[in-house]
Amino acid sequence: MEKKLNQIKLTALEHINSATDMEQLEELRIKFLSKKGELRQVLRGMGKMDAKLRPVIGKLANRIQQEIEEKFSSKIHELKEKQKTQRIKEETIDITLPGKRPPAGHIHPLNLIYGKMVDIFVGMGFEVKEGREVETDYYCFEALNMPKDHPARDMQDTFYISDDVVLRTHTSPMQIHTMEAKQPNEPVKIICPGRVYRRDDDATHSPMFHQIEGLVVGPGVTMADLKGTLEAFFQQMFGASTKVRLRPSYFPFTEPSAEVDITCVFCSGTGCRTCKQSGWIEVLGSGMVHPNVLRNVGYDPEQVSGFAFGMGIDRMAMLKLGINDLRLLFANDLRMIEQY
Ligand code: PHE
Repeated sequence: MEKKLNQIKLTALEHINSATDMEQLEELRIKFLSKKGELRQVLRGMGKMDAKLRPVIGKLANRIQQEIEEKFSSKIHELKEKQKTQRIKEETIDITLPGKRPPAGHIHPLNLIYGKMVDIFVGMGFEVKEGREVETDYYCFEALNMPKDHPARDMQDTFYISDDVVLRTHTSPMQIHTMEAKQPNEPVKIICPGRVYRRDDDATHSPMFHQIEGLVVGPGVTMADLKGTLEAFFQQMFGASTKVRLRPSYFPFTEPSAEVDITCVFCSGTGCRTCKQSGWIEVLGSGMVHPNVLRNVGYDPEQVSGFAFGMGIDRMAMLKLGINDLRLLFANDLRMIEQY
């Protein structure tokens, strides 16, 4: 019996030693130490044993049971430690790894150009005024020397909100708002950037687009000032060799009126497809503020004169970015936007 007990002890210790997880260990506990375990099984035979030997074997069995139990608890401890180290290893964060940056957005190409244009004018001493996009007929047309039956109203296909309220077709109403807010004949030097609306939609026209209005009024302001201002602007925008030319035109709110061309930004004036071999590109409408407009806001055309211009920001962006379809600017296609 003694031999058997020692045999059990040896196998038990050996098995426990090589156990690798708690489940295995529990199985071993049942196998060796439970009521139906091997140890008890052997001790059951003690009844038939010589009475003198019984206490000796009993003592031995107790000792062996104790030894096996100790082995169990030290193994449990060992496995727990192992688990802990393992977990710490798995959960360790390498704080030296570079972080993941979320992709950053950036300014829309149209806003880039918009900002650049405004910056140039601010650099020349212009004040920036932003106006409303919904206007009354009076500010959009009437006060700009365009009465209800004026044929020039057809030049701008208008979105009407009611008979008297429109989405502004140009930024020129800001000329009226600005001068109305001043003392009569008070000098003005402003630009008004903003959205405008016309019933138009093709590769070079969008129902919503952007303009910058310019207005300079004061004693002795001439058309030479207009040309000089535009030259300074376009040379900063497209390079020092850019030339500006004025062509006679017609707007009801300016007299005389001029359309303004610059040397083609793609071929520098030698002729290409974009400028239709002319070497020039039309960029804006302008002129000397019509005396009627000045009178409408209480200014005296005998005392002051002024020039005004209105240019398309989107058109400028197309030239600057080399885009041939205006609608690309508003489609918000990231493949296009991310190039700039
Ligand atoms: N308002 C005109 C347009 O949108 C442009 C313009 C502005 C012309 C100022 C002359 C003076 O077409």
